This record gives sequence, C-alpha cells and structure tokens, in this order.
Amino acid sequence: VQQWASVFSVQLRELTTKYSGSQLLQKKLKDVEPIIKMVDLNGNDLVKDYSDEIERLLGKKMKSVKRLAESAEDADLYHEFNATLQFDYYNSMLINSVDEDGNSPDMGAEFPLEENEHFNNLRVNMLLSDIQVPTNVFNKDPNILNSIYNSEALNDVFIGNFQKDSTLTWQFFGSSTGFFRIFPGIKWTPDSNGVAAFDCRNRNWYIQAATSPKDIVIMVDISGSMKGLKMTIAKHTINTILDTLGENDFVNVIAYTDYIRYVEPCFKGTLVQADLDNREHFKQLVDELHVKGEAKINKAMKESFKILNEARMKGQGSMCNQAIMLITDGAMEDFEA
Ligand SMILES: *[C@@H]1O[C@H](CO)[C@@H](O)[C@H](O)[C@H]1NC(C)=O
Repeated sequence: VQQWASVFSVQLRELTTKYSGSQLLQKKLKDVEPIIKMVDLNGNDLVKDYSDEIERLLGKKMKSVKRLAESAEDADLYHEFNATLQFDYYNSMLINSVDEDGNSPDMGAEFPLEENEHFNNLRVNMLLSDIQVPTNVFNKDPNILNSIYNSEALNDVFIGNFQKDSTLTWQFFGSSTGFFRIFPGIKWTPDSNGVAAFDCRNRNWYIQAATSPKDIVIMVDISGSMKGLKMTIAKHTINTILDTLGENDFVNVIAYTDYIRYVEPCFKGTLVQADLDNREHFKQLVDELHVKGEAKINKAMKESFKILNEARMKGQGSMCNQAIMLITDGAMEDFEA
C-alpha cells in the first residue's frame, strides 16, 4: 500500500505542478497519460518528508500563538484596572455606521475594509483587528473596556505573525469577559433579528483551553412538577451543558422520578466520550423525555456517585475532574447524606 501510495502521490505532484487548480480538473485522463510514468520511491523516506513538513508547519503556528500569549500576559500584568476608563474601540458590529446627523456613533468609527483573496474574499482590514461583543454582554462594561484596552497590544503581534507566516489565516483572542478580538478586522453580520449570539466562551477551542477534562453525570428531574416550561428550560440547559463538552470529556445523562432511567439504556452504569455523535444522540433522547411521577432523588444520586467512582477506579473516563449536574425545580427530600 505504501509503495502504491508513494507512486501515486508522485504522479499527482507532477500533475499539479504542470496543471494548477481548475485546469487540472478539466483535463481528461488521456491528455495527461503520456506524462505519467512509474518511479520507484522509498515509502519510508516519503513519510519522513511529509512528517517533517507537517512538523515545520505546525511549529510555525505554535510560535505565532506563543507570541500572542506572551504579549497578552504582559499587557495584563502591567495594566492597572481603571473603573472609570473611557475607551473608544472598533466594535465589529458598529464600525462604518453613521447616525441621522452623519456622525459616527461610539465604537462605530470609519474602518477601511478591502476584499482579500487570502480570507475567502471577505472584506477585511489588514492593519487593524476589531472587537465582537455578544448582544447579551454590555459592550461598555468596565471589565470589558479594560480588557479590550489591554489587548490592543496584540494588534502588532497579529501583523508580525502574518508577515512571518503567510499561510496564517484568522488570528483571534477570546477574553473571559466575553469579547472576541479578530484579525484581520471585519464587519460582523448579526443574525436576521439583529442579534450577535456568537460568544467565544462557548467555542470548543476556548473551553478546551480554559477547562480540564472532566466526567459529568447530568441528572434531570422528570417528575410531574417539571411539567411545561420547567421541562423546556431543563432540556435547554442540558443541551447547553452538552455543548460545552468536548472529546476529552466523558458524560452520561440520567433522568429520574420515582425510578431511575438512563436516557440511553445501552450506556447504563458507565460514562461515554462526549464526542459529537454521543452529544447529539443525548440531545435527541433528552428532547423525547416526558414528565411523570414523584421525584425521588436519593437513588439517582447514589447511582451517579457509583458511575463516577467506578470510572475512577477502573481508570476510565477523563481521570481528572468529576461533577454531577443536578437539574431540578427543587429537592424536596433531605439529601444531606
Ligand atoms: C482612568 O480613565 C479615565 C478616563 O479614561 C482617565 O481620565 C483617568 O486618568 C484614568 N485613571 C487612572 C488612574 O489612570
């Protein structure tokens, strides 16, 4: 297989040098047949070459990220929090807008944008990054303003990184205060209701960097009192929790009333990897839950502890943090023990 793969890849390489992009697609096989030839190659050398190349590429990206991290840490270290700080930044939702009098609103100054092939032909600003703040976060909160002010230092690093490595595309910085700095700067398009729901803190890259791997048992109360809106909120809550989990995490969902019910009976007594398939599977099953009976939390709580204990003893699961998420409208029993 290795031999064939190497011969094939050499042919491909020759073809792609001769005919680039769409040209290649248009060529019929018979047109290129005369230039195809068999060459013996050492598969191991080829694999080594590829891996060296990949290592070099990833190494460059890592250096770029390190430069950003160092600069962000320095800026934060030397900054003293100023509760009355006034600071006008480029807000990607507001840039290039004017009010009735023809003036730019706060945070909405002129921000030159130009179409750029390297960035999916989007209109971008190659000299400045700008800031996105989700609609449900106050964009002039002092914590946000101070943190945005700090991260201005990243602008030069973004530009420098791109000069050093032209294969870089988007560079960004996600803050725990909720803003998202993106380079090159763009105009952010809200959804059809004018809402920018994107919150960098919910993205997998953010969560995986900000948290450690974890085992989570989600316990949801499906007793009669959870009927209606409460159940809707509970389901939404579970979906949101599931969305924060990634491939390093392990999870199970238990519904309880006067009895325990694993939403997926096949996963009884165990934890499963919170990969996309499993998460979507859980979401679908949770959506089908119906309320019934009276809540008895004790058994379900014991079961959850048992799952977590066993995972730890057997060296399964994340082997890191463990938690139980309890979703209920109130615990009626005495559950101190
Ligand atoms: C805090 O910010 C305000 C407004 O930007 C400024 O006038 C003031 O001097 C700053 N205070 C300190 C201690 O830097």
